[in-house]
Amino acid sequence: MIEADKMREHVVSTSEADPAALDVRDLYVSFHRRGRDLPVLRGVSVHIGAGETYGLVGESGCGKTTLVLAVVRYLARNGSVDAGSISVDGDDVLAFDEESLRKWRGERVSMVYQDPASALNPSMRVGDQLAEVFAITKPCLPLMPRIWPVKACSALPCPTPVRPFAATRSSSPVGSNSASS
Ligand SMILES: Nc1ncnc2c1ncn2[C@@H]1O[C@H](COP(=O)(O)OP(=O)(O)O)[C@@H](O)[C@H]1O
Ligand SMILES: [Mg+2]
Repeated sequence: MIEADKMREHVVSTSEADPAALDVRDLYVSFHRRGRDLPVLRGVSVHIGAGETYGLVGESGCGKTTLVLAVVRYLARNGSVDAGSISVDGDDVLAFDEESLRKWRGERVSMVYQDPASALNPSMRVGDQLAEVFAITKPCLPLMPRIWPVKACSALPCPTPVRPFAATRSSSPVGSNSASS
């Protein structure tokens, strides 16, 4: 009982001490188009605590994607953060140099797009694409880079984690030939 109480205290104090998963303050983003700056985000603030789930809804074109792209520093070349701050898990995202940004994207943060399948290159095997991420972000890992993506896939609710290593997006489904005959 004492142990359980201690644990609860520990959990509470740990979560209170944890930095916010995302803390966006007074963010202004604009896009430069046809010689003009088009403001898209004007003074947006979002706070997501550690361990919280957050849903952002709004009409099409209101700036949801722009906000997320600004957070991961993936804005189009004509976009710019004009004011405000972005902190992810305590890191000042706007202060990252290119090298830190690359490492951060490889290890700490990721964007899952609405159509993740279209993010894959149809001319490469899925496994090769996953292995590439590990080869770039973890060059110090031992040889056999394919082992790491298989391990990562094994952590997913995927019944056959090794299968994607033989598949490409354009692979014909099994039985498609028989259907046409
Ligand atoms: N690269 C860009 N250049 C100019 N305008 C853009 C660019 N990207 C997005 N926009 C404009 O920013 C606004 C917000 O777009 P977006 O963030 O995609 O909205 P949402 O995701 O909420 O549908 C829209 O008016 C869109 O046309
Ligand atoms: Mg969008």
